[in-house]
Amino acid sequence: MKPMEPSRKGKILIVDDAPSVARFTSEILKTEYHIRIVSNGVEALEVISTYHPDIVLLDVVMPGMNGIEVCKKIRTEKSFAFMKIIMISSKTHIEERIQGYEAGADDYIGKPFKKEELLAKVRVFYRLKLVEDQLHEMNEKLNEQVRIRTDQLIDSARMAAIGKSTAGIVHNLNNPLQAILGYSELLELKSPENPMIQKLRSSAMLMKEMIATILTTSREENCIKVDNIDLNTLLRNQIEMMKANNFFKHQVKTEIDLQPLPLYKGVYAHFSQSLGNLIKNAVDAMYQTANKVLSVQTKADEQTIQITISDTGCGMDPETLPKIFDPFFTTKPLSAPNDEPCGTGIGLASTQEMIEAYGGKIDVESRTGIGSRFTVTLPLIIR
Ligand SMILES: Nc1ncnc2c1ncn2[C@@H]1O[C@H](COP(=O)(O)OP(=O)(O)OP(=O)(O)O)[C@@H](O)[C@H]1O
Ligand SMILES: [Mg+2]
Repeated sequence: MKPMEPSRKGKILIVDDAPSVARFTSEILKTEYHIRIVSNGVEALEVISTYHPDIVLLDVVMPGMNGIEVCKKIRTEKSFAFMKIIMISSKTHIEERIQGYEAGADDYIGKPFKKEELLAKVRVFYRLKLVEDQLHEMNEKLNEQVRIRTDQLIDSARMAAIGKSTAGIVHNLNNPLQAILGYSELLELKSPENPMIQKLRSSAMLMKEMIATILTTSREENCIKVDNIDLNTLLRNQIEMMKANNFFKHQVKTEIDLQPLPLYKGVYAHFSQSLGNLIKNAVDAMYQTANKVLSVQTKADEQTIQITISDTGCGMDPETLPKIFDPFFTTKPLSAPNDEPCGTGIGLASTQEMIEAYGGKIDVESRTGIGSRFTVTLPLIIR
């Protein structure tokens, strides 16, 4: 949460039928706060609904509707709940104070009051009001995020169900494809120079690879057992899967340099999700930039495997960088049409958690307007 220093000038409504008292009160507060003055309860209720004061300084004894009644009326309106009410009156007996508190007042100042006392109380209540406003705002945001996350979970459960039946369908494509491949091979033997037959066969081969990628990914994604993972193949599959995103498929150039890696012991889904998150972020970052190059590199030494995912995207400024691994930190909208980037801000938090569970780490270098580089280092020593 932000520091409690007032970040905006507070608004105060003075309700008093005595112009001299109202003026005196206003003089004390006007350098620090915006002030409005009204002289009776009816006017006060009208002004409150448009002026939205942070604090109402309410005289108790007034002709017509008195301060207690005004206070009760304000408190019946839910949207005024965070407004602070300080009653001001020469009636300072304890019974009268209790009556004020029961009507919903936050504090009570007796007349005549000292300038310092009024200023101190108003400052305290204004700070409190700011904190409550911030809490309220955060709560609203949290509720919105929970709602969107719940929708996403429902969606992903639905997608998982669709995924299962799709895997079955895709698997069944293998049989006719085998026939196409077999016959095209025969045709090629008969007419080895025919470019149409060559094209037919290479397209069928490509389709076979695509089917294999979909089937391995869906099988591996759905199981949480520890495996020996070929991280290079996993990365190739993730990049292949990203092609479902039209922006990526048609506009982003990829530079892939994958050095031989030892197999890595772990849960496939941990790495497909975490490296997938980094690739997705890199692609998102290039949505608005002229230059769009995604680079993925891997290499290994005796002790570690290093995976580097770089982009030529918008980059991050020094204020953003320290916050990116915080859960729910995001600079993206919660939802967006088509392939426009959107997010809930949990990608990097969960990625970091998964990588650290293997004793690994993520280093980030970034420059605004130039791009970012995320390096995942995984230990190879026996864990
Ligand atoms: N490669 C990148 N280039 C620029 N900014 C990035 C990059 N990766 C992350 N960020 C910044 O870090 C923020 C947090 O990233 P994170 O992946 O946690 O959440 P997200 O992408 O906003 O949402 P999601 O939960 O869908 O992943 C992003 O909103 C973005 O501002
Ligand atoms: Mg993300």
